[in-house]
Amino acid sequence: AEPLRLAIAGLGTVGTGVIRLLEANREVVERRAGRAIEVVAVNARERGKDRGVDLSRFAWVDDMQAMATRADVDVVVELVGGSDGPALTLARSALDAGKGFVTANKAMVAHHGMELAELAAIKSAPFAFEAAVAGGIPVVKGLREGTAANALTRIYGILNGTCNYILSEMERTGADFGEMLSAAQEKGYAEADPTFDIEGVDAAHKLAILAAIGFGTRIDFEAVRCSGITQVSATDIAQADALGYVVRLVGIASMENGDEATGRLLQRVRPCLVPFRHPLAAVTGPTNAVVAEGDFSGRLLFQGAGAGDKPTASAVVADLIDIARGQAGAPFSVPVNQLATAEQGDPGERMG
Ligand code: NDP
Ligand code: HSE
Repeated sequence: AEPLRLAIAGLGTVGTGVIRLLEANREVVERRAGRAIEVVAVNARERGKDRGVDLSRFAWVDDMQAMATRADVDVVVELVGGSDGPALTLARSALDAGKGFVTANKAMVAHHGMELAELAAIKSAPFAFEAAVAGGIPVVKGLREGTAANALTRIYGILNGTCNYILSEMERTGADFGEMLSAAQEKGYAEADPTFDIEGVDAAHKLAILAAIGFGTRIDFEAVRCSGITQVSATDIAQADALGYVVRLVGIASMENGDEATGRLLQRVRPCLVPFRHPLAAVTGPTNAVVAEGDFSGRLLFQGAGAGDKPTASAVVADLIDIARGQAGAPFSVPVNQLATAEQGDPGERMG
C-alpha cells in the first residue's frame, strides 16, 4: 500500500517526539496502520537549530502555510501551538485542501474546533486531536467511542500536568511555587506561555473539549469558570495535609437537570481540596486523570501521563494510524451539525 505522507509543522517537544516515535516504532506502526507512515516535509521557526533528531531526510519548508497544498502530503500535523495565528491559518487551509489534519493544540480546538470540524465534514477530510487533551491518555477516543451509549452526568479530573507537577512536588518537597514552575518548564510540560497552565486556562481548554465530546454539545470555552493555582501557597498545602487533604487543580463538567438537549452544562476549573482516600489524591507529577460517570458504564477512570514528548507523541501517532487505516471517524460523538447547544452555567457565571 502507498505510505501515508506527513508534513509536520512545529519541531519542539511534541514535534520531535513524533519524529522519534515514528523512527523507533517504525515496524509496529506500519503493521498497525497497514502501511508505512512517512514524514515528507517539516517546518519550524529556526531552521539551523539542533533538535536532537535527524531532519536531513525531510524537505524543509520555509513557509509553513505551503504545507497545506503540497501534492506529496496527505496529512498536515500541527504542533506549533497558539489558538490563532499560523496554526489556525494552517488548519483552515489544510482542511480546505482536503488534507487530513492532526493537532495537539487544545487552545485552537477549544476556540475554533467547531469551525474546523464543520470544514472537515464538508471536505470529508479527517480531523483528529487526541493529543490535545491529557497527553498520552486516549480520553478523547474513550469518551467519543467508549461511553457513546451512555447519558453522562459528570466528567471531572486533573487536566494539567504542569499544575499537578507543581502542586504535588510542593507537597512532597516543601519547595516553592516558582522553583517548581521552572522545573516543569525545563521538563517540557508547560505551555510556551505558562500563565495558561498556572491560571487554569489550559485545563479549561481541555475541559471544554471533553465536555463537548462527552455530552454531545458544541464546545463553549467561554462558559468555563476558571481559576488557577497562583494563589496556592506552601502553607495552604501543609494545612490541607494536616486535615487529610491534598490540593489539586480539578476541572469539572456536569449536566444538571436533564440531558444535552434539556439540561444545563456547568464547567469549572479550580483548585480543590481532595481527601487522601479519593483516587485523584494519588495522582502526582505530570500525570492526568479523568473520571467519567455514565448511567450504564458507571464510573470510569482514565489515568496516565498528561504531558511530555513521548506520551503526547503516542497520542498524535495513534490518530495518524487511524487515518492511515481509513478509520479516523468524526471528531465528536455525534456529527458536528447535530451537536446540541447546551444552556451553560448559572446566568451570572459566564466568563465571556
Ligand atoms: P514547543 O514550544 O516545544 O514547540 C513549538 C514548535 O513550533 C517549535 O519547533 C517552534 O519553532 C515552532 N513554532 C512556534 N511558532 C512558530 C511560527 N510562528 N512559525 C513556525 N514555527 C513556529 O511546543 P510543544 O511541542 O510543547 O507544544 C506544541 C503543541 O502541542 C502546543 O499546541 C501544545 O499546547 C501542545 N501540547 C504540548 C504538550 C507538551 O507536553 N509539551 C502536551 C500536549 C499538547 P522553533 O523550535 O524553531 O522555535
Ligand atoms: N502544558 C500542558 C500541561 C501540556 O502541562 O498539561 C499538556 O497538554
